[in-house]
Amino acid sequence: MRVLVVGGGGREHAIIRALARSRHRPELFCAPGNAGIAADAEIVAAERGVVAAALDVGADLVVVGPEAPLVDGIVDDLEAAGVPAFGPTAAGARLEGSKLFAKEAMREAGVPTAGHELVATREQALAHLAACVYPIVLKADGLAAGKGVIIAAEEREARAAVEAFFTERRFGATRVLVEEFLEGEELSLLALCDGANVVPLAPAQDYKRIFDGDRGPNTGGMGSYSPVPGIDADDVDAVVGAVHEPVVRLLAERGTPFHGVLYAGLMMTAAGPRVLEFNCRFGDPETQAVLPRLRSDLVDLCLASREPGGLAGVEAEFAPDWAVTVVLASAGYPESSSSGDVIGGVEEAAAAGAEVTHAGTAVEDGRLVTAGGRVLNVTALGPDAASARERAYDAAGRITFDGRQIRTDIAARAVERATQEAP
Ligand code: AMP
Ligand code: GLY
Repeated sequence: MRVLVVGGGGREHAIIRALARSRHRPELFCAPGNAGIAADAEIVAAERGVVAAALDVGADLVVVGPEAPLVDGIVDDLEAAGVPAFGPTAAGARLEGSKLFAKEAMREAGVPTAGHELVATREQALAHLAACVYPIVLKADGLAAGKGVIIAAEEREARAAVEAFFTERRFGATRVLVEEFLEGEELSLLALCDGANVVPLAPAQDYKRIFDGDRGPNTGGMGSYSPVPGIDADDVDAVVGAVHEPVVRLLAERGTPFHGVLYAGLMMTAAGPRVLEFNCRFGDPETQAVLPRLRSDLVDLCLASREPGGLAGVEAEFAPDWAVTVVLASAGYPESSSSGDVIGGVEEAAAAGAEVTHAGTAVEDGRLVTAGGRVLNVTALGPDAASARERAYDAAGRITFDGRQIRTDIAARAVERATQEAP
């Protein structure tokens, strides 16, 4: 069996490692991949596009990592060409591609989410700001690589955000959602969908801000861990029943059944779970913490998700271990990134028992160098949160490059909470 993974980040590297553990012993290909993925899969250039590449390698399955090709309809194209593909069609991917589409779907399906107002011009936005209760959240409609969200503590900051959105066009969007600010613990609950059934994956939490203590601008994600203290199997079922299932039912009723990963980014408020966003794919870096715990066969799960009703009676099984993922980012991230900085210590980190997945790396003159904002992910497992966290930081500390940025508080609160909850 031949499996082609589309994408070239830490998430795709983690997906490839999980696929490699399948009983099908798949031959693995990745387009475009990266320097680290090259050790685990054959890199495919895909110059003539992904469909041609999939046909060239004779792929029995294509697993699509990032949102942009999904929103552009890559699964529709692959399936039309007779290539089995894991992920939603363009119609399903709109849940991520348009925040407004997602809000309307949630309203129709009765899914709890933050209250919002849509503004389409600078003038409309400024007029609306005067009437808001602060803080508020401003979100660009459309894809923004996790960065098009601004939390404004007061009207002055909100006005600056409006200029960034409408005058500087910083995130390319022409419409902005002004959202109620919600308080609570965040939760990422990813689930596999087959158009009708929903199979939850292990709960996870990610860290979106660049600096410790959730300060600084949003990034693509600086770390993650799984499971999440205080979220048990009943909580997971409750969220799936209140969030994933109604949306999957709605899309099926509309004739656009959702297949693939439906990722709900949630705020667990005092009044119950509220959806902050939907993604239509594996989360990055949640996947790097979740998939190393997966005991079920990822190839089987992907194939079952493709078949209408294929997930009926299926459960995804996870090891009881904790997993902590620490992201190493390059100098300047998230505003910019630094390329060409020589990386050392990756073997030492792996030898320390961690799984090192590559996000933005390249090989230049035989040396591994940085080639992007997020450079490497270091994941460690342990029997409890504290040991997983300690192992992850011990291994991450062995990796060196100029300007390296690491948050030092990934899973710190989870360790505290897990300790408090222990009998
Ligand atoms: P999103 O891309 O919509 O998930 O937003 C990115 C991050 O901004 C989330 O992970 C939260 O940390 C924060 N955020 C988004 N929406 C809200 C909200 N309504 N209230 C509080 N925080 C939010
Ligand atoms: N971890 C957030 C995302 O994948 O969008």
